Amino acid sequence: MQSIDTVQHLTAVQFNKLYFQENKPVIIKGGVKEAKSYNHWSLDYLKSKFANRPVRVFYSESGYYNFNVQGQMVPIQVSFEEATEYFTSNQYNNKSYYMQQVSIPDVFPELMDDLETPEWNLPSDLINVVNLWIGGAGCVTPLHYDFAQNFLIQIMGRKELTLFAPTDAPYLYPSEAGKVHLSQINLDAVDYAQFPLFRQAKPFRCSLEPGDVLFLPPGWWHHVRSLDAAISVNYWWNRFELIPGIGMEQYPVAVLTKEINRFLEAGLPIDHQDAEGEFLLINAIGKGYVNIVEAFLSLGANANLVSTHFRPGKTALEIATASGQHKMVSLLQQYGAKEKQPNASH
Ligand code: SIN
Ligand code: FE
Repeated sequence: MQSIDTVQHLTAVQFNKLYFQENKPVIIKGGVKEAKSYNHWSLDYLKSKFANRPVRVFYSESGYYNFNVQGQMVPIQVSFEEATEYFTSNQYNNKSYYMQQVSIPDVFPELMDDLETPEWNLPSDLINVVNLWIGGAGCVTPLHYDFAQNFLIQIMGRKELTLFAPTDAPYLYPSEAGKVHLSQINLDAVDYAQFPLFRQAKPFRCSLEPGDVLFLPPGWWHHVRSLDAAISVNYWWNRFELIPGIGMEQYPVAVLTKEINRFLEAGLPIDHQDAEGEFLLINAIGKGYVNIVEAFLSLGANANLVSTHFRPGKTALEIATASGQHKMVSLLQQYGAKEKQPNASH
C-alpha cells in the first residue's frame, strides 16, 4: 500500500516546491491547531450562533452522498438546529444526513472571521470557494476528483480517505461526459465483473484527525468516509503557475486563455513571476509548452522578457533558439521578440 506524505511542519516555500509543483498530496498534521475554527467550533457552538439559519442538508439511506446516482441524495431545507439533531441522534439511525459542500461566505458569512487563508497559500492565489461540511458518522463522499487545488481541513471528528493518482483514471471508470470527475465504482463493494481494470489501480489510504490539513491537487481521486460526527472546511483555489502532470500544456489555446484571464481579472500581471521569481512565460518556453506561450503572448505578455532564474540573463528568444524550438521561435518573433533585448545594458 502506498502512503501519503505526512509532515508536522511545512513552510509556504517548501509546500510550493515539494507538493504544489509536484502535483502531490500531503497531510500537514495539526496544521490548523492554532486556528480559531479548530479551537472554537463544535456542534454546540455553531448551534448557539446559527440555530435558526435555514440550511440545505442531504439525506441518504445508504450513507453515500453521490451526485452521480440519480435519487441517491435528497436535499431538505431545515434550520441548522434541526440539522445538528440529525447529525448526532440515533433516532435517525437508518438514514444519515450530510450538510455537504455549503458555501461559508454565502450561508455562514459570520464564520469567515474565524478562518484564516491557509498559510501555504500565496497572496496571488485565487481562492474560489470556501465550503463547510458537517455530517454524522458514516457519511461517505464517493470516489471523485476536483478541478481546483484543494485544502481539506478537519475541525472535528475523523475522516478516512482512499486516494488514487490522476494516472489511475483509466482504471477508475469515469462517468459519462459532464461527469467525468465522478467514478462509477463503489469502493466499498467493487463489482469486478463490471470494472475489471480496477484491479490495476493503486490506492493510497490516509486519515484526518481534528486539526489536520490535507492538500489534494486537482485530478487526484478521493473517497471520504466520516468515522465520527465531523466538521470540515475546504478551500478550492488556483495558483497562477504552470502545473506539471495535469496535461495543461495540451489544452487548446482558447481554454488556456480563459483560465489565465481569471487571474488577470483578479488583478495579477500577465508577466507574473513564480515563487522563485521566474516569469511564467519563461518557464513555459523552457518546458516547450507552445500553447501556453501562445496564450500568454496573445494576452499581452512581453515577448522580450529576460530570465531571472531558469537561464539568468537570457532572453525568451535566446532560450527558445538554444533549445531548437522552431515553432516557439517564430511565435515569439510574431509577437515582437527581438534578437537582442532593445534596452539590455550589456
Ligand atoms: C468530504 O469531506 O466528505 C469530501 C471532501 C472533498 O471531496 O473534497
Ligand atoms: Fe472532493
